Amino acid sequence: MGTGKAEVASHFRAVDSAAAPEGFIEYLKDAETEPRAMVPRAMTYEAISGVTGRGVDVGSGTGLAVAQLVAGGQQAVGIDNSSVMVSESRARFPHCQYLQAAAAETPFQDGELSWYRAERVYLHLDDVPAAVREARRVLKPGSPVVIADPDLYSTVFGSGYPDVTAKVLDSFRSQIPNPAAGTTTAGYLAEAGFTDIAVTAVVIPVMDYAMAARFTLDQALAMARESGSLGEDQIQLWLDDLTRRSRSGCFVGSGTMFVTTAKRA
Ligand SMILES: C[S@@+](CC[C@H](N)C(=O)[O-])C[C@H]1O[C@@H](n2cnc3c(N)ncnc32)[C@H](O)[C@@H]1O
Repeated sequence: MGTGKAEVASHFRAVDSAAAPEGFIEYLKDAETEPRAMVPRAMTYEAISGVTGRGVDVGSGTGLAVAQLVAGGQQAVGIDNSSVMVSESRARFPHCQYLQAAAAETPFQDGELSWYRAERVYLHLDDVPAAVREARRVLKPGSPVVIADPDLYSTVFGSGYPDVTAKVLDSFRSQIPNPAAGTTTAGYLAEAGFTDIAVTAVVIPVMDYAMAARFTLDQALAMARESGSLGEDQIQLWLDDLTRRSRSGCFVGSGTMFVTTAKRA
């Protein structure tokens, strides 16, 4: 496994075996401070608001969503396959419950839970059908599910060198197990017998280079460099073009999050 920028974002499926797990914690805490990233999160809360009974936040990361749901009156437990994430969450929010468990193998009884939430987790799963089957197993009939992910094929940036952008984004997607999660989870839910499936696309504008670098381009570029698919001269021209666009207010980009809701039949 690599280290640094290329590792963060691409290896969320195995944080504990990363060379520097604290980089993953920093990445998630940074995202918490970005209001545009919090718009789809608020939609996931809305999808389960008012539901009584215990529910699970799968891939709970640094724990904030569980703490916010608890503050809103919900009975929430977070699960994450990373002990580093679970420890961080417990330290940050000692009044909340976090357990180390994988999405496909949770510690809950059949039909024990009343809701299920996962945000930016399904794109890191190797076996989505197994996770969806597990969701079905642990939920009471009629319970709501909300799963939010990007489809990384919907990430766009205007550039004078679109072929370089395409290679950089290809490098990024090639390191993520399920890069089209946002647009494919609905199909998996349907196959597993979930009903009332609905998907809302939320476009997140990325109108300056700094934000693009923070959440995608730094990691994507590091991966492209590691893969050797681009020469340093090409990369420098591309970067100069993007930073020039940003300085003159002409940087145009976006990513799309897809918030998928459904019911356990
Ligand atoms: C990108 S982070 C998102 C964290 C949080 N949901 C958020 O939106 O801030 C993905 C999280 O899923 C966890 N994860 C990855 N694969 C998992 C799996 N198979 N089962 C449970 N958690 C998993 C990672 O450890 C990480 O905390």
